[in-house]
Amino acid sequence: MTQKPHTIVICMGSSCFSRGNRNLVRMIQDFLKEQKLEDEVTLKGAHCMSKCDKGPVMKINEEVIINVNDENLTDLLAEKLLNSSSS
Ligand code: FES
Repeated sequence: MTQKPHTIVICMGSSCFSRGNRNLVRMIQDFLKEQKLEDEVTLKGAHCMSKCDKGPVMKINEEVIINVNDENLTDLLAEKLLNSSSS
């Protein structure tokens, strides 16, 4: 079984789901498609990550990201997935 280099785990707990993750899932899917990253990134849902008050929450490569919204999501994905040359 080959493993994709990146993993996004999006919180599908009821708090994050209603705060925006329901739509953010679709945005992530669109982003991956546009950037042709579907073979690079595993996208999966998870149960509540116990940070509901800071949600919506997701994890990108084991890094927990809080307060994700439709305004910062694209930059976040670009930074984490496209920009591997971090200093
Ligand atoms: S529902 Fe997402 S952290 Fe609780």
